[in-house]
Amino acid sequence: MEIPKLNKLHGKLTIPGDKSISHRAVMFGALAQGTTRITHFLEGADCLSTISCFQAMGIHIQKNKDEVLVEGKGLHGLQAPLDILDVGNSGTTTRLISGILAGQDFTSRLTGDASICQRPMGRIITPLSLMGAQITSQNQNGCAPLTIQGGHLHGIHYQSPVASAQVKSCVLLAGMYADAPTSVTEPVLSRNHTELMLNYFGAQVTSKGTTAFILPQPDLKARYITVPGDISSAAYFIAAGLLVPGSEILLCNVGINPTRDGLLHVCQAMGGDITLLNVRNDGEPTADLLIKSSSLHGTEIKGEIIPTLIDEIPMIAVMAAFAEGTTVIRDAAELKVKESDRIQVMTDNLTRMGADVEALPDGMIIHGGKPLHGATIDSHKDHRIAMSFAVAGGICEGSLTITDGECVNISYPEFYTDLYSLL
Ligand code: S3P
Repeated sequence: MEIPKLNKLHGKLTIPGDKSISHRAVMFGALAQGTTRITHFLEGADCLSTISCFQAMGIHIQKNKDEVLVEGKGLHGLQAPLDILDVGNSGTTTRLISGILAGQDFTSRLTGDASICQRPMGRIITPLSLMGAQITSQNQNGCAPLTIQGGHLHGIHYQSPVASAQVKSCVLLAGMYADAPTSVTEPVLSRNHTELMLNYFGAQVTSKGTTAFILPQPDLKARYITVPGDISSAAYFIAAGLLVPGSEILLCNVGINPTRDGLLHVCQAMGGDITLLNVRNDGEPTADLLIKSSSLHGTEIKGEIIPTLIDEIPMIAVMAAFAEGTTVIRDAAELKVKESDRIQVMTDNLTRMGADVEALPDGMIIHGGKPLHGATIDSHKDHRIAMSFAVAGGICEGSLTITDGECVNISYPEFYTDLYSLL
């Protein structure tokens, strides 16, 4: 796919629904009593994988034009799937559904695409096994395909070695089925959508510092959910608006949960002109973001901010390559186990464009300001790599091509249409 040039972006855009929140709304809706109505649901391939997994377990889910209706059957209403569950490319589906399956009285199997079958699942197998589930990795490599024999779980305290909302959520969901309270402590706080939404559905979840606690749960109640725009999808437009000279764009309805908003702080530290308008809170804080083109400079990104911008690092790396001065990203080794090894893939592709980038075991050093030129970018079928380089390719000299550019459909099917609507 050859990438068009970007010039003076202007206009406004409503950002599609948050991927993390859309997944959770379907899952919790399926486990609730009654019909959960979800508006602004993200119709990306990952969230559709979650829907099809729950349909395969007997949950009726109807997609209308402006809403998704999930007819919940209660915590114990799932049916054993007849076939192996297909999670596609979705790490969130895999890890959260495993927590739910660990609480069921039946045996289930799940698998996904080539990327998902290489991503580490030991991080959920360990706590779920401690809780009493029997989980096996078919190829004995700690990855999917997984077989999960659930039921009779014990409450535990789990000290997670990684700051991961997927691990935390998996343990909390299993905790609903346990015989005693369950808690998870993570080294640094990760996104807290599960805690917020489970409470909204009537579960008893509390948080203190980096520990989340849940009580065994008799039942969840169906709810109405309006999904805010995904800040991880807004990231490409924030970057494009800042980088393309003469741009001014308004991004409407973007989630700005403090466990997700690290990108905004980094952009401001780099000299980006971003104004938050119409800040509101409907369970999740949201705002409209006014972005004006700015001259950016390098910054240092490390420590507790990392989980709050983990999915935005590919885009930040591109911004850093166009910015003046050096950007250092540390404490982000988790990037190696995302949909692709994002440290290596970003370093290789930016280097192809003429950038001065060094890969570190836990991040990157980017000496910005070198003139960047077109290249053939290997997306590794990673949606966030493709979208980051669609922005880079719109700004650099010469023509840039992205392999498997349609992989944006994982989280943002209308990405290219939306980007070029601002020209
Ligand atoms: C997600 C959590 C993050 C993030 C992923 C979505 C979630 O992963 O990278 O895109 O919805 O909980 P980790 O929890 O593995 O850090």
